[in-house]
Amino acid sequence: MAPMPLNQFLLFCWVAGFTILLECSPSESRPLEHLRFQAYTRHMDTSEPPKAAPGPVTNRSWNEKYVIQEGPNGIIQERNSTETEFDSLAADWGTCGTGNPMDDCWRCDENWESHRQSLATCAMGFGRDAIGGKNGQIYMVTSAEDDDAANPQPGTLRYAATREEPLWITFAKSMTIYLQEELILTSFKTIDGRGVDVHITGGAGLTLQYISNVIIHGIHIHDIKVTGPARVMSNTTHVGDRGVTDGDAINIYTATQIWIDHCSFANAADGLIDAIHGSSMITISNNLFSNHDKVMLFGAHNIDTVDREMKATVAFNKFGAGLTQRMPRCRFGTFQIVNNDYSAGWGIYAIGGSESPTILSEGNHFVASSEKEVES
Ligand SMILES: *[C@@H]1O[C@H](CO)[C@@H](O)[C@H](O)[C@H]1NC(C)=O
Ligand SMILES: *[C@@H]1O[C@H](CO)[C@@H](O)[C@H](O)[C@H]1NC(C)=O
Ligand SMILES: *[C@@H]1O[C@H](CO)[C@@H](O)[C@H](O)[C@H]1NC(C)=O
Repeated sequence: MAPMPLNQFLLFCWVAGFTILLECSPSESRPLEHLRFQAYTRHMDTSEPPKAAPGPVTNRSWNEKYVIQEGPNGIIQERNSTETEFDSLAADWGTCGTGNPMDDCWRCDENWESHRQSLATCAMGFGRDAIGGKNGQIYMVTSAEDDDAANPQPGTLRYAATREEPLWITFAKSMTIYLQEELILTSFKTIDGRGVDVHITGGAGLTLQYISNVIIHGIHIHDIKVTGPARVMSNTTHVGDRGVTDGDAINIYTATQIWIDHCSFANAADGLIDAIHGSSMITISNNLFSNHDKVMLFGAHNIDTVDREMKATVAFNKFGAGLTQRMPRCRFGTFQIVNNDYSAGWGIYAIGGSESPTILSEGNHFVASSEKEVES
């Protein structure tokens, strides 16, 4: 993928707000208003509704005439389509065709609940190969308890998440789970909250470290606190002495093939999703983010040159009210940021980067909040 041409990146930096200018060339001096207007209309006519799907609850009227497709290497591409062409594609997808192929992939199946593992084929973008617990047993969580992080009881989310074998984890009923300590997952797990209302809140968040192939779909993670030090099970053969956590809702550390879809995130002690230290092949899609400062971090340190290989896709997310920065903030790496809705504005900037990241930004809907407007 070619890096974004310099002039487009400058334009983009202006649009994203003031702080990010520090990371761009300061030579551009055209009026902000003019630049913002250009960038905003680059992918859509302002008189049309935005193309981005609005997060967890799809408002289908928004993107009826909009088609995206998967291109080489899993890159999601936008494509113009005529009305007739759209109708025939929609017919192929079934009556629920919305132009959001990740959603249509499972939602068009009326019996999706009987075919839960079909979801594993629906990811697009760099995390498209994440199979989660596909071909494993369905494990139903029956208890919201988290009594013992070192020795979890059967029926709990922690018990399921630490097993050695692939598992497709579902929930017997809606529940609110207070994690006493960080929940460390093993590879080949899906957490599937479809059909119920599952909240992870008030305590620790999720840790995905040294693993691969995780799908997290349809759960709410909010009000996450710093926890530890503590003894926490990483897998059935290892219980470790863990330090104090950062307080991320989801911390991805040296982990690959990750798909986070249709979750909601709000308010954590540190990031909502931080993917760092050699993590890659990640898709973050259809999520709703709100009420938080540092939303999403890809690459934490300039010395982590391993993050040159990082590849992540951020698509169809709704960045809602009360967000300040990092939607996302990228170091090194290659990032595809498409069809996201930033219409609720941002406090400092929306998308930022340093250490020469390659950022492909397409079809995003940006509306700067009123304090960013310049009167001329
Ligand atoms: C969907 O979007 C349209 C256009 O913005 C709006 O009129 C309608 O009320 C929305 N529907 C829902 C269910 O949010
Ligand atoms: C879509 O149509 C617009 C306007 O006609 C054109 O400028 C643009 O290049 C087209 N994009 C693609 C991917 O064909
Ligand atoms: C269990 O976790 C430890 C610590 O992260 C790790 O070294 C080990 O390889 C893991 N074992 C398995 C079977 O994944």
